[in-house]
Amino acid sequence: MTQRHVPAAELHLHIEGTLEPELILALAARNGLTLPFPTLGELQAQYEFTDLQSFLNLYYANMAVLLTEADFADMTRAYLARASAGGVRHAEIMFDPQAHVARGVALSTAVNGIATALASSEADFGMSTKLIAAFLRDESEESALEILDALLAMDAPIAGIGLDSAEVGNPPSKFVRLYDRARAAGLHLIAHAGEEGPPSYVSDALDLLGAQRIDHGIRSMEDPELVRRLAAEQVPLTVCPLSNVRLRAVDTLADHPLAQMLAAGLNVCVNSDDPAYFGGHVDVNFAALNAEFGFDADTVATLAGNSIRSSFADADRKAALLGELHHWRTQQG
Ligand code: HPA
Ligand code: ZN
Repeated sequence: MTQRHVPAAELHLHIEGTLEPELILALAARNGLTLPFPTLGELQAQYEFTDLQSFLNLYYANMAVLLTEADFADMTRAYLARASAGGVRHAEIMFDPQAHVARGVALSTAVNGIATALASSEADFGMSTKLIAAFLRDESEESALEILDALLAMDAPIAGIGLDSAEVGNPPSKFVRLYDRARAAGLHLIAHAGEEGPPSYVSDALDLLGAQRIDHGIRSMEDPELVRRLAAEQVPLTVCPLSNVRLRAVDTLADHPLAQMLAAGLNVCVNSDDPAYFGGHVDVNFAALNAEFGFDADTVATLAGNSIRSSFADADRKAALLGELHHWRTQQG
């Protein structure tokens, strides 16, 4: 059987950003909620963004429909079904616990709902997964520490922590204690940096937080010394091309630095970030890149291989997925 989509890992994905407008309306109806934009047309008209914050406003507002474990589980299953159909074989999924607790939803509701869907992901979709708790950098470190402690106390099935939300003005240095505590708990460490924030946030995420991967990292390209370091250390950068276009981090896909990042020897991979908001899943990102840059099968295989090697999957799973990727490459001619 020839596989249409390259087998890959998705390493930069916010589960709340997979809530499609249709599912938002269905969950609102199920929960008896009246939304500010109650029809599909009115809701869809809100999806024009000028920057990260303009997106975050809608992203947080739409979370209002997530109230029960079933809501979180249905959202997660919808992602797993769609991503696996697009070639994603392993996903490391962020969620925003603070955003739910702030709305009065119990931490256990969010965690258990998502975890229930992930627990049967291999059986249902052949997809392995990891769950990552992302902390809102525009909130205090105290708030993040409280939630991390609560997650550890309930033995939540998280593999790591991340840092997301409004980047500029909320540097990595604000979260040193959080990352120290997560490291001591044996968790993996990732952080958004260099999406809208300067290159110094990327080096600070590495040096002050001990981040093992950088989410986005595209503004690293403004600092040649940092580029040399990222190449030498092969720091994984989870790039999200369509997200960067929709949030105006770049003017058009043609202006996206991914090709230059590859040429500089950086360890980059392709991810969807918030696919319901930015125009598509990993396969749609690859299709757009191929249409814009004419990437050949070797380049696509490099990007997919980077995603698999940069994941937190165990060695056996990585080897199996790299085998699938090799098989895919031999089919491309
Ligand atoms: N950047 C920062 N925070 C986020 C994003 C993003 O793209 N998506 C969800 N939270
Ligand atoms: Zn992100």
